[in-house]
Amino acid sequence: MSKQDKNCQVPTPIKYVEQMLDYVGYKRDLWGHKVLENSCGEGNILIEIVKRYIADAKRNRYTPQEIVEGLENDVIAYEVDQKKIDTCLARLNNLSSLENLPEIKWNIKHQDFLKNKEKNIEFIIGNPPYITYHDLTQEEREFLQKSYAVCQKGRFDYCYAFIEASINALTDNGKMIYLIPFSIFRNKFAAELRVFLRNHIVKIFDYRSINVFPGITCSTSLIFCEKENVSDMVEYEDIFAQNKIWINRSNLSVDGEKWVFHRTVSGNRRFGDYFSVHNSVATLCNKAFLFTADGEQEQYYIITGIPVEKKATLPAISTKSSKDMKKRKKENRIIFPYKMSNGKIDHYTEEEFKRLYPCAWKYLYQFYCDLGKRKADENAKWFEYGRNQALAEVLGKKLVIPMVITNSTKAYIAGKYTIPYAGYFITVKRGSNMTLQDAKKVLESAGFYQYVKEVGTPTTISSYRVSVHDISEYMF
Ligand SMILES: C[S@@+](CC[C@H](N)C(=O)[O-])C[C@H]1O[C@@H](n2cnc3c(N)ncnc32)[C@H](O)[C@@H]1O
Repeated sequence: MSKQDKNCQVPTPIKYVEQMLDYVGYKRDLWGHKVLENSCGEGNILIEIVKRYIADAKRNRYTPQEIVEGLENDVIAYEVDQKKIDTCLARLNNLSSLENLPEIKWNIKHQDFLKNKEKNIEFIIGNPPYITYHDLTQEEREFLQKSYAVCQKGRFDYCYAFIEASINALTDNGKMIYLIPFSIFRNKFAAELRVFLRNHIVKIFDYRSINVFPGITCSTSLIFCEKENVSDMVEYEDIFAQNKIWINRSNLSVDGEKWVFHRTVSGNRRFGDYFSVHNSVATLCNKAFLFTADGEQEQYYIITGIPVEKKATLPAISTKSSKDMKKRKKENRIIFPYKMSNGKIDHYTEEEFKRLYPCAWKYLYQFYCDLGKRKADENAKWFEYGRNQALAEVLGKKLVIPMVITNSTKAYIAGKYTIPYAGYFITVKRGSNMTLQDAKKVLESAGFYQYVKEVGTPTTISSYRVSVHDISEYMF
């Protein structure tokens, strides 16, 4: 994806720019101190930096010529999009003429900040581009992997490299404030970034419940970092709840585990001691296996005009389909290419499956190429699901919940032979004295949603992704 893409070009609203400059201490005696905005866009942050610089220099009685020299030496910016630079320069020139200053050669570099090892900066203030791994080109991914320690593993975001590069650009007493996605504290692919940040983070301003970018559902935070001399305690402030706590730096995991700032304990029973949480069945090619029949003929369902043996299928459920199904009054089904005997699942040979269910085999054969392209388990046959992860547990009564929880959890009880194909499913542990109804009550409680907010990875302002581990560790 090009960095000129709108997704990574959302400017910072002025209210937050002011807060950032205040928090980082960009207020007084600024002349002679280098400040960097390394992805300046149209200049929302840069303009405020320059306004403060000029006002402060005038207060300190610098001459107009000295102010110009100071601005040329001290204020550095980068931007890759020439159009943004042109707009930014026009705004800066307008400001300097209002301030009655002579012409200024602004130091805005039309370069990729990540390819320049900038050094000796005292203040860095920024809202770097956020670009998911998925949206980066192969060339960009390889460059970041080669150049940045925090981009070595997994599906990192482009902004991780900006954080590492910026902190490395600071002088020993340098300070940085960055507006970043809150997910860096929770995302498993940000583990290396957390290891890196652990030595520099001073304060976290949690903006999760605040819509910082109007019209864009992104949970954000400000991180205030220093190059050296950080104290033992890290300050964490939930801006919406107006709640401040101090966290011992040594409690921030050394191996990059997610950072949880506050945990409400609602009981002394661990969910995972009573229930097992599983990933749903993953076909890795739902279009081949899942269907809602157009019609039926005795022993067959008709799917797009093609018959498939009813006996080769089972009901299918996801939390989304369950809501839709109620509206459409049509059942979702899944081709189930496995044997079931005594509550256990076994594999067919292809000959067996074809002999028993020739129509289902023929139906699946239409998708032969797509099925072959899946990143499937090594031993998965072409007509089987891509992952065999949940199969051993899937027969039995279960509770189905989504992976991403929005505002509250809605859990659905599903029958013994219903196959969950998205989200998680929950079964009662052998010997447990609790029921699926109990599990439903626990997971639909306000206490569980509070927990999800505390440990989950935000995907929007009110949605959080939770893992099997998170759910199992819930105390109720
Ligand atoms: C989220 S916008 C922020 C703009 C500005 N910092 C603000 O807060 O208003 C990020 C900007 O980074 C620029 N950008 C993307 N990749 C860059 C790179 N490698 N080096 C410098 N700028 C980059 C984009 O063109 C975009 O204008």
